[in-house]
Amino acid sequence: MILTVTLNAALDVTYPVASLVPDSAHQIERAHVRAGGKGVNVARVLEHFGQPVLATGLVGGTSGAAIRHDLDGAGIRHHFCGIAGESRRTVTVVAADTGDATAFNERGPLVSIAEWRDFLEHFDHLVRDASVVVCSGSLPPGLPVDAYAELCRRARTHGIPSIVDTAGPALVAAAEAAPATVKPNSVELRATTRAPDLRAGAGQLLAHGAEAVVVSLGPDGLLAVTHDNAWQARPPGRISGNPTGAGDACVAALASGLLTGSEWPDRLRTAVAWSAAAVPMPYAGDVDDETYRRMFDRVQLEEIHAFHSDR
Ligand SMILES: Nc1ncnc2c1ncn2[C@@H]1O[C@H](COP(=O)(O)OP(=O)(O)OP(=O)(O)O)[C@@H](O)[C@H]1O
Ligand SMILES: [Mg+2]
Repeated sequence: MILTVTLNAALDVTYPVASLVPDSAHQIERAHVRAGGKGVNVARVLEHFGQPVLATGLVGGTSGAAIRHDLDGAGIRHHFCGIAGESRRTVTVVAADTGDATAFNERGPLVSIAEWRDFLEHFDHLVRDASVVVCSGSLPPGLPVDAYAELCRRARTHGIPSIVDTAGPALVAAAEAAPATVKPNSVELRATTRAPDLRAGAGQLLAHGAEAVVVSLGPDGLLAVTHDNAWQARPPGRISGNPTGAGDACVAALASGLLTGSEWPDRLRTAVAWSAAAVPMPYAGDVDDETYRRMFDRVQLEEIHAFHSDR
């Protein structure tokens, strides 16, 4: 089973409007509301592709209850830890005239040290039945910067590999816990490492301890770097739609590849095809089967032989 961890789970609210006009009131015919947060999106994609998955993390308040209720309705197995604070909401206004999405993301509830300790105990129970752990997204206020690192270390004591998708100091700390894979996007990698180029940035995260670094490059696909090899995988063309959540579909594929032990070229092909399939869908966590099937055989994979990490 793949265990996805979402420490800052959210209730994602989307308002479709004909046009977004500042300083005016907008009539919303029908709001779209669903459980979100990156680990939840990863779980949704894995569930879609028939992979065994359990979603965990922290939830609280009425938003937390709505998150659990939505996952029940979607048939996604979950076991979250309750906290006293209110889970955050995100509000995205999608304007039909321009196609632009304007997002308002709450930062998240303050989590106490006692709540974090309770979660670690909860995680220790769940991880025993897991084969892969996925840690995705931002940390809510109150959690230590090495929260994901701590989860990776605990998973590792059971021989279970982890994937981490986060940014900044939390990503560097996680890399030091030797996760199997970290998955920043190119902007996150540059901001986190301040390296002159992506290969150098990936090399830094390898030097910190990550076993592999997969950098997502938006419509240009992926750069994957291990201590021994590097690959670039590209979709055959740019897909139009909403790329939010494409990174989560990519992480889902990398987790599935770790679960089955697939070779890197196969893993990356699947990652590019699953993430491309997320782009035509309006909501993060959904994937389009037809796009996935169309993409899979057409992913362009290139091995970059001349790569040496700083190890
Ligand atoms: N327009 C697109 N057409 C085809 N594939 C895309 C497109 N945008 C993204 N992808 C695929 O999705 C993957 C992840 O996208 P991206 O780099 O935007 O991730 P991200 O910024 O982490 O996304 P998020 O965190 O919002 O889920 C890319 O590596 C690429 O394979
Ligand atoms: Mg991302």
